[in-house]
Order: sequence, then C-alpha cells, then structure tokens
Amino acid sequence: MKKPFYITTPIYYPSGKLHIGSAYTTIACDVLARYKRLMGHDVYYLTGLDEHGQKIETKAEEAGLTPQAYVDGMAVGVKELWKLLDISYDKFIRTTDDYHEEVVAAVFEKLLAQDDIYLGEYSGWYSVSDEEFFTESQLEEVFRDEVGKVIGGIAPSGHEVAWVSEESYFLRLSKYQDKLVEFFTAHPDFIQPDGRMNEIMKNFIEPGLEDLAVSRTSFTWGVPVPSNPKHVIYVWIDALLNYATALGYGQEDHANFDTFWEEGTVFHMVGKDILRFHSIYWPILLMMLDMELPDRLIAHGWFVMKDGKMSKSKGNVVYPEMLVERFGLDPLRYYLMRSLPVGSDGTFTPEDYVGRINYELANDLGNLLNRTVAMINKYFGGQVPTYVENVTAFDGDLASVVAENLRAYHKNMEGVDYPRALEAVWNIISRSNKYIDETAPWVLAKEDGDKEQLAAVMAHLAASLRVVAHLIQPFMMETSNAIMEQLGLAAEFDLENLELAALPAGLTVVAKGRPIFPRLDMEAEIDYIKEQMGGGSDPVEEATEWDPATVELKNEKKAIKFEDFDAVEIRVAEVKEVAKVEGSDKLLKFRLDAGDGQDRQILSGIAKFYPNEQELVGKKLQIVANLKPRKMMGLLSQGMILSAEHDGNLTVMTVDSSVANGSQIG
Ligand code: ME8
Ligand code: MG
Repeated sequence: MKKPFYITTPIYYPSGKLHIGSAYTTIACDVLARYKRLMGHDVYYLTGLDEHGQKIETKAEEAGLTPQAYVDGMAVGVKELWKLLDISYDKFIRTTDDYHEEVVAAVFEKLLAQDDIYLGEYSGWYSVSDEEFFTESQLEEVFRDEVGKVIGGIAPSGHEVAWVSEESYFLRLSKYQDKLVEFFTAHPDFIQPDGRMNEIMKNFIEPGLEDLAVSRTSFTWGVPVPSNPKHVIYVWIDALLNYATALGYGQEDHANFDTFWEEGTVFHMVGKDILRFHSIYWPILLMMLDMELPDRLIAHGWFVMKDGKMSKSKGNVVYPEMLVERFGLDPLRYYLMRSLPVGSDGTFTPEDYVGRINYELANDLGNLLNRTVAMINKYFGGQVPTYVENVTAFDGDLASVVAENLRAYHKNMEGVDYPRALEAVWNIISRSNKYIDETAPWVLAKEDGDKEQLAAVMAHLAASLRVVAHLIQPFMMETSNAIMEQLGLAAEFDLENLELAALPAGLTVVAKGRPIFPRLDMEAEIDYIKEQMGGGSDPVEEATEWDPATVELKNEKKAIKFEDFDAVEIRVAEVKEVAKVEGSDKLLKFRLDAGDGQDRQILSGIAKFYPNEQELVGKKLQIVANLKPRKMMGLLSQGMILSAEHDGNLTVMTVDSSVANGSQIG
C-alpha cells in the first residue's frame, strides 16, 4: 500500500472573477493529484473559497448584496470554472460552511484557554486587499503629512494600507520561534523550491517573530469569538484551518483526517505571495494544537504580463474562459504547466500561447500521431505490427532515449517541476519524429525495401506514442485519450511500470486519424487574445504587416516569419571526401570544406541514391551549417546536406564551381 496523499490549493478570495493565476495553482494541484492517483496512491484533493473578512464584506456592499448572498453567487461561478478546467477535486470547502466555522471558534477558545492567545491592543497598518498587518518598516512606501508624520502607505503587494488601532487578541508566535526554527532545521526540504526557506528565515524569523493580531472589532463578517463576540476571528486563522476542518478535524467523522493528515503525506501548494502565512503562522498553529506538521509546502512564482502584474486597471488580465472557449482546454493546461519555471515568475504572452499550440502541440505531437496512424494504415492496413526490439539501426537509440526520459519525467513529477517533466515528454516526441526521418519508412516500403524493418518502425512509433499518451494524461486528459483511441488502445494506465517495449499486441489504429490540434493562424489568434485582454492590437504594427488573406500560396508547411527563415544558415560546402558508413545501408559520411578553415563532417541518408558515391567528391553542395550537431550511428554530424526529392529519388543541390566555399545562400 502506498501512502495516502493529501493535496491542497489555497482557498481563493471570491472577491472577483478568478484569472489564470488561480487557475494555474488549481491546475498544478490537479496534475499532481492525477499523477499520484495513476501511481497508485489514495488521493484527497482539496480546494475551496476563503469567504470571510473585510475585503469580502466591502465587495458585497459595493455589489449591493449581503456578504452571504455575494459569496454564494461567487461560489457557483468558481465551481463552474473548475468544471470547465476539469479539476478533479475531492472536496470544495467554503469557510462559511457550518462545520468549519464551528471548529474555528472552538480552536480559538482552546488556544485562549491554554494562553497561546491573549487580549491586547493593536495599532498598526492593515492592507484590506491582502488581509495582512504590516509594521512601518515593512511598507514599500510611506506617505507623510507636512510635519512628517506617517499618514498612510503602500504594502509590498502594491495595495494601500490604513491605520488600525483597536482592542485585539494576539497569537503568541514569539513563544514558538525556537520550535519553528528547529522544525525548519530538521526538515530542510519542507519549503520548495530551495531558497524560499532562507528568505523566510532572513526576513521574518531572524529579526524576531512578533505576536500576531488575530481578531478584529471594526467589522462583523467573520467567525465571532464565542466568549467575546464583538471580536471576529482574523480571516487568516479562519482560512488556514480549512486544511484540517475539510478532513473532519475536530468533528465526529474524522476518518479522512486520520487517513490523510495523520497517516498520509500532506502537500500544500501556494503562490509566493502567501508563503509567510503558510510557513510561519500555519506550522505554529499546528504546534499549538499538537498536530502533525505538513510534509511539503510548494511556493510557486507568479504569472506576470509584459507590463507587470495583472490588473484590471491596466487592462491586462487574462481569464481562462476565453482561452478555453477559443482553443480548448488542453492547450491552456499545457501552456500554464509548461511555461512557469520553478522558482521564478513567468511571463504570459499571447505570442507564446499561440506559438506553443502551433509548434509543440500541432507540429511536434500532432504530426507524430498523424504520420504514424497514416503510415500504419497505408503499409499495414491499420494493424500495428508486433513490437520487436533492435531491428533497425535506430531502434536502440530510440529505446534508450525513451527510457532516459521516462526516468526524468518521474523525477520531475515528484519534484513538481512540470516544465522539465513536459520537456522530457517532448524529448521523446522529438526523438520519435527524428526516427521517422532516419528510418525513412517510405523508402523501406518500396518494392526492394525492407518489410521487416518497416514493421519494426511502425511498432516503435506506436509504442512511443503510447508512452507519450500515458505521460501526458495528468496534464491533457482529452489529448491523451484521443491518442490512445486513435492507436486502438484501451484506457488503462500503469504509469509506474510504463515502458516502450510493453506495447500490447494486436492493435488496430483508426482508419482516419483526426488532427488533435488544428494549426492556428498566428496573427489572428494573437490579436484575439489581445482584444480579450482589453489591450487591443498595435495599430502601427498592424499597418505594416501583410494581409495574409491576399497572399495565397500553395505551401505544404505552415507559413513562417522572415526571422525564422533568416535563422537558418545555408552555405556552400565542397565535398573533400565521402565514404559509406559501416553497418548502415543509408548513410554516407562526408568531409566538407565550408570555407571556415575547418573540416566539417556531415552524415546524410542518401547512400541509396548514390551507389557510386565517389562521383560526389569535388562537388559544391548546399548545407545547413548551423543545425545543432547530433550523433548518428555513433558518428558526429555537423549540419545537413540539402537535396531535392523527386520521383522517389533524392538529388543533392549543387552550385556552380565558381562560387567560393562558405558563401551564404539566402
Ligand atoms: O491569498 N500567478 O487568496 P487569493 C500565479 N485567500 N498564481 C497566482 C497569481 C498569479 N498571477 N495570482 C494568484 C488568498 N495566484 C487567500 C488564501 S489559503 C489558506 C488563503 C494564486 O485569492 C496563487 O496560488 O489572493 C496565490 O497564492 C493565490 O492565487 C492567492 O489567492
Ligand atoms: Mg492575494
């Protein structure tokens, strides 16, 4: 039996429509929940809403509603959003739920009785937007009157603070400082990514923890202190306790609490903005209550926009709904998980969004599937040939790349490094696409070709796509299922024991594969996103762009930008030497002079078309000079020789002998 796994998102403030920021954390937790379930864990995934506090009370007032009516409405909207994003939560907690409020009140009284909470007087700065107290020195900026007295300021979040002076209860954080440091020392991996624990130590713990004001008297929307009801319990104490009350803590039925909190792995994911609450206040609260401490706290960075933080006033807020409506769910899940690097912020740009769909999803993954299904239909009437290892010269390398990236995937999933986990999957996809080019199935399929090799190639491609479909299942359920369906695979997963060789026998692919991602018109879709963000498109840029509708060329590949073409360095190179590669009936090994005073070795799969290869010596060819060097059959290849494909033949592109070696073509 594997350890039960408990994963939580922050409970968001329903103070406005949720944007891609909250969607990010919720999808990130969903991916982990799905991964852990596929790995055989009993998972409990919690999300919900933080519905009390001054900020919500004010929002409701502005909307002309009672706070309860306001949060009831917002909760419906948020649940709809999670449904749209296919979030597989097990429970949705609202802090206005009775069972939660009752436990919060009881906990407060218990801490009061054991003197971890005491009554005092609070004066200081409060940011309603953050629901957070600040000392003057913590403020980003202070405003002074003409005699220099501080009359206001700005919190690090950019929100305004106001002076609060009222009777308040305090939580004795100071008393637990040493215990907290001890816990951090004993669990150096508690906060991830690395480095964030040091920030907390330096900024909050080393200067000395101050007791925290944990009640307010200037508004009423919260859980009242039972023994002194003019006080409402500070919204953060109320909110943090959700992680325990949701499991039944302090209630009659606490089976989930026993399983997931006491015996399970407890895993919190939050944004870096609320790390202080989760790394200091929450562990100390748990210590006061004599409860187990969580195992892991992930504090991720933010999605920001080119012009800084998302804000309605800047007109740069991105809502998930419009992206899902236009492009589908999987691109959103993929983009968000792929683009936020661990430990830092990530920039959302419409260009990236559309670019990733076109290049990574439609091109890399979509084409691999299309080509594979089409070839299995064409060459084997839709029957996937039996998987046999090491038939072609490239099978071994494909298998080892898959094995290596399977390991990288699991390691990065465990470490919640999704960009790297997905990179590992895309390494498999790229290697498989390259495998098609190397094995050239259309050549193997010729009359004098090699049927046995052709069969091995098809089986390897199907096996590789099956691996990919399983690995992306936690991220893109629909795409994963579509790939399995097109390959004729049952929706069964054993992620833990997944390997290339385990392709089931007797599969039949669909007769006609439907493209899983349509290729998008970059410019038009970028404009769509910009318009939806309220930014509009840049009129100057627009006026200087070509109107793609007026230029109709019959191209097979998608249109690229001039810069993309310009990035390709094509040069003239003279053949100095050429030889067959031992063990390969396809490859020729060239030594070339590309005018840079160095020998350049290029391997090219044209042996079949030049049985008398020595005729090429002395010819001036066109090569791609800046292709990333790669190894084929253990030999380094530093570029690519251009050739034209015609009537099933390949003919190298020669240039006139008067053109100097190294001349650039373009
Ligand atoms: O803080 N990029 O709620 P909140 C990435 N109620 N993540 C983002 C983001 C962005 N631009 N913007 C928001 C609260 N988030 C409290 C939590 S928990 C006991 C109480 C995500 O609605 C990120 O996870 O302000 C961040 O921590 C959270 O939303 C803040 O949500
Ligand atoms: Mg916030």
